[in-house]
Amino acid sequence: MSTALNSTVMSGTRLAGVIGTGPWPGPAYESLTTAMSRAIADGRIPVGVRLPSEREVASATGLSRTTTTRAFSKLREQGFVLTRRGSGSVVRLPEVPGGRIDHLLTPADADETEIDLTCTASTAPPRLLGAYDRAVAKVHAYLPGTGYYPSGLPVLKELIAERYTARGVRTDPDQILITSGAFGAVAIAVRALIEGRGRVPLIEGRGRVLVESPTYPNAIATLEGAGASLISYPLELDDHGHHWDIETMGHIAAQAHARSAYLIPDFHNPTGALLPEEQRPELGAMLRRNRVVAIFDESLAELGLDGDPTPTPMAAFVPDSITVGSTSKIFWGGLRVGWMRIPSHRIDQVAATRLCLDLGAPVLEQLVAVELMHEHDMIVGEYRTRLRAARDSLAQQVRTHLPSWQVDVPRGGMALWCRLPEDRSAALAIAARRHGLSLVSGPNFAPAGGLDRWIRLPYTVPEAQMDEVGPRLAAAWDEALSFSGRIPPGRARIVA
Ligand SMILES: Cc1ncc(COP(=O)(O)O)c(C=O)c1O
Repeated sequence: MSTALNSTVMSGTRLAGVIGTGPWPGPAYESLTTAMSRAIADGRIPVGVRLPSEREVASATGLSRTTTTRAFSKLREQGFVLTRRGSGSVVRLPEVPGGRIDHLLTPADADETEIDLTCTASTAPPRLLGAYDRAVAKVHAYLPGTGYYPSGLPVLKELIAERYTARGVRTDPDQILITSGAFGAVAIAVRALIEGRGRVPLIEGRGRVLVESPTYPNAIATLEGAGASLISYPLELDDHGHHWDIETMGHIAAQAHARSAYLIPDFHNPTGALLPEEQRPELGAMLRRNRVVAIFDESLAELGLDGDPTPTPMAAFVPDSITVGSTSKIFWGGLRVGWMRIPSHRIDQVAATRLCLDLGAPVLEQLVAVELMHEHDMIVGEYRTRLRAARDSLAQQVRTHLPSWQVDVPRGGMALWCRLPEDRSAALAIAARRHGLSLVSGPNFAPAGGLDRWIRLPYTVPEAQMDEVGPRLAAAWDEALSFSGRIPPGRARIVA
């Protein structure tokens, strides 16, 4: 698990914003200890941040100095805080016997009766086969050539560029690079920005990359693999679900000297949160002000389920940014066709980085993507209808079978991000295996640890299995509640 770097200091006001200002029932120091340890376990107070002084906490929360001193000492005892003379109190997570919580899952283990809730991915739409047929009929035109198109087939690049232009950001086909899925695009972008492959690093200094917490687990792995230090920005949470506070994000970016960011503004994985149109210019301005070059992962942008128009690409507000997109979520993951949109002045450098990793995407699959792009609105429209029904029925399953869980229905995306009444997500994932259910626990989505109170439930589960999800989850949850044994270490392996 990541030991993300958060050399940030949390102010008393910010802490009070996260844990509240009371009332503090019972012995007040216990209430304060619980509020803080929950927020740390949830990831709302990220691991690695320096807490305000005990005196500052007292004045921000309306408690006495004696109370905050007792709470800090309790938090130290429980392993949530490490205090060193001269460097204050830094947030950490308690050691779990056997190491980091979680277990290894692979969808490949699953048998036919197993319900796989590890992936936000659907089966292919019926129109896919026809698109393959038409693409095969067209591939002959490419056979006399070498088949190497390191930046992608021109016809596909044009269609993608046209869509960006229509969505509000003028795009030349030369700015598009076709990749092996969005994930391939993220890997290239991260290397280009952080490692600075080639002669001149694109961004000076080692990469400190701002990421949302929670975030997409594969991105955590890719960023860390490229040597990035992750700066975690915990998404805000209130009665309306998760959302961004750009001012706070800006403070964190500035304090930690983040030079790059990986952000998912559109139906964020796993929370489903959507950055509202009115906040987009504000996010753009904050990134420009802090000279942060962002990678915007817009893989899920088309999956608004409540009638929201497809959001304006963030590149319209922050020109020096890289946008990542994909056919995986709208058409089919098996195509492995994604893309990146690159600012003109970075094209050569990013293209050079790409050639260090691979030499291009397959011609046939790109031709299939072209065929599907011609039917884009119809396919996406049909898919949204299916997903909306699946989202609503999974939410209903959870409400019926797990009334103690909190489920906020997202406006889009592919998963519910549910809040458990206790920190038992890893235990739940283990118990679920015994009930024929594969889950990925919350800590996998945490760039800086925590999130054991959360579980992601993709509603891409096949319709025929949907009615089984609630009862199996409820049985697994009962078992997880009685679980007191050692929870083995390791990260789940998931793809989507
Ligand atoms: C935010 C995000 N980015 C990237 C991916 C991977 O996309 P692709 O299959 O196009 O590589 C996923 C898959 O779930 C995702 O949720």
